[in-house]
Amino acid sequence: MASVGGDNARGAELLRATQAEVAEGIDALFDQLLAVPADPRGPLYEAMRYAAIAGGKRLRPLLVRAAGDLFHVDRALTLRVGAAVEAMHVYSLIHDDLPCMDDDDMRRGKPTTHKAFGEATAVLAGDSLHALAFEWLCDPATSADPFVRAELCCELARAAGPAGMAGGQMMDLAAETSDFDLPTVTRLQQLKTGALIAFSVEAGAILARIPAEGRRPLRGYARDIGLAFQIADDIMDVEGDEALAGKALHKDEAAGKATFVTLMGLDRARDQATLLVEQAIAHLGGFGDEAALLRAIARYVVERDR
Ligand code: IPE
Ligand code: IPE
Ligand code: MG
Ligand code: MG
Ligand code: MG
Repeated sequence: MASVGGDNARGAELLRATQAEVAEGIDALFDQLLAVPADPRGPLYEAMRYAAIAGGKRLRPLLVRAAGDLFHVDRALTLRVGAAVEAMHVYSLIHDDLPCMDDDDMRRGKPTTHKAFGEATAVLAGDSLHALAFEWLCDPATSADPFVRAELCCELARAAGPAGMAGGQMMDLAAETSDFDLPTVTRLQQLKTGALIAFSVEAGAILARIPAEGRRPLRGYARDIGLAFQIADDIMDVEGDEALAGKALHKDEAAGKATFVTLMGLDRARDQATLLVEQAIAHLGGFGDEAALLRAIARYVVERDR
């Protein structure tokens, strides 16, 4: 097994270096795309910058990059698409933290956007990031091919809307007052978290114009890591460290929310997450070394502490 251990160590190092590179690229791009105008909209841009720059794991842009690398997509393009999906994700976090939703004070190790800028500005910053994600994807700088741009926009809309993230958030609210069973919680999480993760992986293949048939292994991979990621989030809520996580924990049980942990217990949830990671990696069996980063990301989603 020494070689597997060696591969894992090399994968972890590749992940660390690429994550740092992607984070730096995303910050630079946001800095450029969210320049503050010298007019009364200034606070709106400041709030977007506050929420979007220098924070988070940048998992979704990292996935676009890793999937794009499989097909040798220009990295400047995967970075732009990464910025779009990250903007969508940051919008979802701003709104998720609002008093009418999870009512949270801390996010990514600092006060939530509504705590720093007020609720009205935070709502508008979320709205704006949501719209900008599509504006950036529609720009010819994202792809010279209008069919690619249209597919990216369409898939992101699906992943963020009622059949994706927003629908999952609705089910998540209902999970506080309903007795959801495991299949229902699984569907909830696939929508709430899985859809944007799946978009991120698929976007690499869309940029490379890979037909639907050729995307099948990537779809299987994305579905499994999306679920594993959310199980890890639920486990972190129970036994994580708030200082490392940068957000309030121990909220799910207090809210009486059905999660993977409340339904399966910690040990089974952990086993299930490990199984999903192995399954995700198995989907990549047809790829060689070019999938090393995707394999490392799969391991990371359950080993992370933030
Ligand atoms: C947090 O997402 C919200 C969930 C979907 C569980 P991340 O854990 O990816 O948060 P950041 O981007 O690293 O802050
Ligand atoms: C939020 O889920 C997911 C989205 C923003 C779509 P959670 O409410 O579990 O995320 P955290 O724990 O606040 O990061
Ligand atoms: Mg929530
Ligand atoms: Mg929350
Ligand atoms: Mg959570």
